[in-house]
Amino acid sequence: MKYLIGIDIGTSATKTVLFDEKCNVMASASKEYPLFQPHNGWAEQEPEDWYDAVITTLGQVVSKSGVSSEDIAGIGLSGQMHGLVMLDEDNAVIRPAIIWCDQRTAKECEEITKRVGAERLIEISANPALTGFTASKILWVRSNEPENYKRCRHILLPKDYIRFKLTGEYATDVSDASGMQLLDVPKRCWSDEILNKLDIDRSMLGRVYESPEVTGYITKETAKLTGLSCKTAVVAGAGDNAAAAIGTGIVKDGKAFTTIGTSGVVYAHTSTPSIDKKGRVHTFCCAVPGCWHIMGVTQAAGLSLKWFKDNFCQDYAAEAKEQSRDVYDIINEKIENVPLGSNRLIYLPYLMGERTPHLDSECRGVFFGLSGIHTKPDLLRAVMEGVSFSLTDCKEILEETGANINEMMVCGGGGKSRVWRSMLADMYNCGVKTIVSEEGPALGVAILAGVGTGVFESVEAACEKFIQEKEASVPNIENHKKYRNIHKLYQKLYTSLKDDFKTLGSL
Ligand code: XUL
Repeated sequence: MKYLIGIDIGTSATKTVLFDEKCNVMASASKEYPLFQPHNGWAEQEPEDWYDAVITTLGQVVSKSGVSSEDIAGIGLSGQMHGLVMLDEDNAVIRPAIIWCDQRTAKECEEITKRVGAERLIEISANPALTGFTASKILWVRSNEPENYKRCRHILLPKDYIRFKLTGEYATDVSDASGMQLLDVPKRCWSDEILNKLDIDRSMLGRVYESPEVTGYITKETAKLTGLSCKTAVVAGAGDNAAAAIGTGIVKDGKAFTTIGTSGVVYAHTSTPSIDKKGRVHTFCCAVPGCWHIMGVTQAAGLSLKWFKDNFCQDYAAEAKEQSRDVYDIINEKIENVPLGSNRLIYLPYLMGERTPHLDSECRGVFFGLSGIHTKPDLLRAVMEGVSFSLTDCKEILEETGANINEMMVCGGGGKSRVWRSMLADMYNCGVKTIVSEEGPALGVAILAGVGTGVFESVEAACEKFIQEKEASVPNIENHKKYRNIHKLYQKLYTSLKDDFKTLGSL
């Protein structure tokens, strides 16, 4: 029996799962770390925290599972996309990573558009210049911290920094590289044109692989720290969304999923690179070799609920502790009796600006309609509804750009909530299904590792065999109609407030 490991370096935690060759979970471990927000709209993490979490959880799954390390054929890496990790000539981390939800780079996005040309940028990178993407972060460091930029020899994405630490290789995969805005997305290779126009030295970037390809092997040092064998291969892997697609079986046209993690994503597979000329949704290479995906992103999905829980739900946390339960289960229970529409309360989930559909780094969160009758459960339900309205916008734009979505799977922490799933089904007016495995991205990259090491024949064949649907939330047409009316007001609120967000930012 061969074994495979999937590692998902998320924003709130790293999750490491060891699977057998039938994709059964043998052992899993996770470790959390902090997110730093030194200024309004900034978001940073320490790459060393990710590394520590990866080494700790790898050691735990190897020892807990009791399998022989020689039988662990491969490891797949997945993780939060877009983050900028800079290493100096001794491979030391130069500064904290500027991560995907950071919004400081509006000026640099203007610079990128000017240097490359708006149309040409979309033709090559398949997306307009976005604050979340890596290129604008690189330019920000060059303009604002020239000493740090001068010392930089290697630029890596979060999971690729971990690859470097585990294997000594500087490499990335096509799906994650797509989010750097330096890749020729239709051609699946670095774009010399963009690199030259932005004056970024190509030698700083790692080699680009298709997701199932082997990029290196575990070093002696990693083996010593974790109990792994040096014969274990590490495959290219994928950005968290492309990885979740494999883990939920979204590997063919017509298939789509919604994930509610820290961010929220609606993702559709496409066998041709279809590009939204208005740039409201992203087109990236996907982890199935030779294919792409389009996706809409809600910046603060699970992040909105976690923010509310961390700041205002200490009583629920205490209740959960007392009953040895998950605080999110308590939250789900509390909101169950709040009626649809949260007693006329609407939440705009713009805690970290917004991508789809607004591409606005300056907008911020809003509770609209607060009244003396509202209690905490109303606010919690409004948060979940606001995130779901944003995801509905994502789905509708994907459909507008031609995605033919006839099946919607759901995953991520928020996908575990029955209330949230039925809210999505009602708003989307389509069935929303879960799958048996809850491992999402970790399972996705373990499958990629299996393909790269010859355990599985292909990504599609492995998904066909191992991804099983579990339960479906069915839409209620009456609820759908009610949500449509509230959604119209939700959409209008952004239009009404757009200029005021700018003013707020300048105060
Ligand atoms: C996708 C994106 C997020 C991060 C964090 O473009 O920024 O989904 O990958 O999960």
